[in-house]
Amino acid sequence: MEKIAAKQCIGEPTEPTNIVILGAGGDLTKRKLIPALLKMLRCGLLHAECKIIGVLKGRTKEQWLASLYQGMQDYSADIQLSDQQWQQFTAMFSMVDGDLEQDQTYIELAASLESLHQHKNALFYCAVPPRWYTTVAAGLDKAGLSDQRQGFRRVVIEKPFGMDLQSARQLNKDLQALLDESQIYRIDHYLGKESVQNLLVYRFANSILEPLWNRNFIDHVQISAAESIGIEYRANYYEKSGALRDMIQSHLMQVMTLVAMEPPVEFTADAVRDEKIKVLRAVRAIDPDSVNKQTVAMQYGSASGDSDNIKAYVAEDGVSPESVTETFAAVRFHIDNWRWQGVPFILWTGKRLPKRVSEIVIRFRKPPFNLFDTHANPPAANSLVFRVHPDEGISLRMNAKMPGLTTDTQRMVMRAPYAENGEDVSDAYEVLLHDVLSGDATLFSRADEVEESWAILEPVLNDWKHRISVNRYRAATWDIAEMDALFDGCVGGWHKPS
Ligand code: BG6
Repeated sequence: MEKIAAKQCIGEPTEPTNIVILGAGGDLTKRKLIPALLKMLRCGLLHAECKIIGVLKGRTKEQWLASLYQGMQDYSADIQLSDQQWQQFTAMFSMVDGDLEQDQTYIELAASLESLHQHKNALFYCAVPPRWYTTVAAGLDKAGLSDQRQGFRRVVIEKPFGMDLQSARQLNKDLQALLDESQIYRIDHYLGKESVQNLLVYRFANSILEPLWNRNFIDHVQISAAESIGIEYRANYYEKSGALRDMIQSHLMQVMTLVAMEPPVEFTADAVRDEKIKVLRAVRAIDPDSVNKQTVAMQYGSASGDSDNIKAYVAEDGVSPESVTETFAAVRFHIDNWRWQGVPFILWTGKRLPKRVSEIVIRFRKPPFNLFDTHANPPAANSLVFRVHPDEGISLRMNAKMPGLTTDTQRMVMRAPYAENGEDVSDAYEVLLHDVLSGDATLFSRADEVEESWAILEPVLNDWKHRISVNRYRAATWDIAEMDALFDGCVGGWHKPS
C-alpha cells in the first residue's frame, strides 16, 4: 500500500484527537481545512489516530466526500494525491447529518464521538457564519461536549468576532458563559503566515534591530494588504463589512501589535498577548472630529484593460448600485508610549489594486545631514520591508554609490528570501490547526484584544455609518490621491508595492 506520509516536517505530532468540523459542507472546509489536515497528516504533524467528523445537513457521506475531493482538485492542485491515498485519508472521516439549531444533532454527535472510543480529546471547528457561534457553543454545552474532565475540548471560531465593540462584547460574554476563555481559539489566519511569525523571530532573535526599533530611528511604519481580486462571491458579507472591518480591525491591527510590542518575558501565549494588548491600549483615541484626516475610504470603479474589463464594485452580483461600502481603507494610528511617540503607523488595504502584495514597511528617518545633496538623486530614506506575500522575505533598501567617477547615489536593495525555491512554507491553516491541537494559543486573539481593537475603531465606524457617498478609484490602479494627504509629514510618502 502507498504510504500517505510523503515527507518529514519540523514539529511535534499532535495528540490523537477527534476533529469535529461544524458546517463541514461549506467552502472553508474544502478550501482550507481539509487540505491543511491532509498536509499535516502527510508530514507526520497530525496523529494518524485522529478522526475527522463532519457535521452537516442534507448530504450523504459519499456526497460530502465527493465534494471534498472536488474541492481538492479545484483549490489545492499542488497536492499530488493518488486515489489510494485519498481512500486512506478518508478512512479517518465520519459524518453526522444534522441541523446545528437542534439539540438532537449534538446528542448524535456525542454518541458518534463515544462510538469512536479511542480518545477523548476533541476540537470543534466552527466553519459556520458567526451568528451561529453561540448556538453551536450552547449545543455542545448541553450535550456535555465541552466538559474537559476526560480530555481537552477546544472550540475554534473565525473572524469576524463581532461587527463593532458592542457586538464583540456580547459575543465574548455569550461564549464565556458556556466555555472557559482558554477553550476558545479565535483564529486570525494572518498570524499563521510563517512570514508574520518570522517578524517576531527577526525582532527578538537578532540584536542589531532592537537599538533601531523606536522613535529615535524610525520615521513611520506602513502595514498593508493589497489584493488584485474583487469581492468574489461574498457580496452579502462584504456589503456589511467593508475593508476596514474585513482586514484592518483584524489582520492588520494584529500585525501592528507584533511590530510595536515590547519583548515578552517568555514565548508563551499569555506573555505575548499581554504585550500585544498593551500596544492596543496605548493607541491614541481617534478624535471623532478628525476621522477624515486620519482615514481614507474609497471604492473601486470599473476599468477596461487590454484583455479584461473589470466591473465596478457597485456592479458586482449582490451589491446595491447605491452602495457606499469601502473596498479600500487606510487609517493613521499613533501609539502613545515611550518607544513610539510621534511615529505614525499607517495601515491600509484594498481590493482590485494592481497586485496582491502584503508588506510591513519600516521607514527610517532621513540622514541628519545630506552630504550628497548637490547631485541629481538625493539619497532616499532607508526602509526595512517584511514581505508577507508573495515572495516572503525581507529586504533592506539602502543607498549606494553609482559606479564611475561620481558620488551620485542609487538605491540598492539587499534581499533575504524567507524560503529558497522548493522549500515548503506551511500554509497558515496548517500552522494554526497544529497550534490548536497542541494547545498553543500564542497566535490566537484573546477576548480583550478583540474588544480593544473594536474600541479603537469606534469613532471611525460611527463616522462612516453616516456616509452618504464614497470616492472611487479606478480598478487595477494606485490612483488614490487621498493617500498622499494621509502620509503628510512621513518621509518618502506612500510606498506602493512594486
Ligand atoms: C480574509 C478576508 O480574512 O483575508 C478576505 O475576509 C481577504 O477579504 C483575505 O481576501 C486575505 O487573506 P490572504 O491570506 O488571501 O491574503
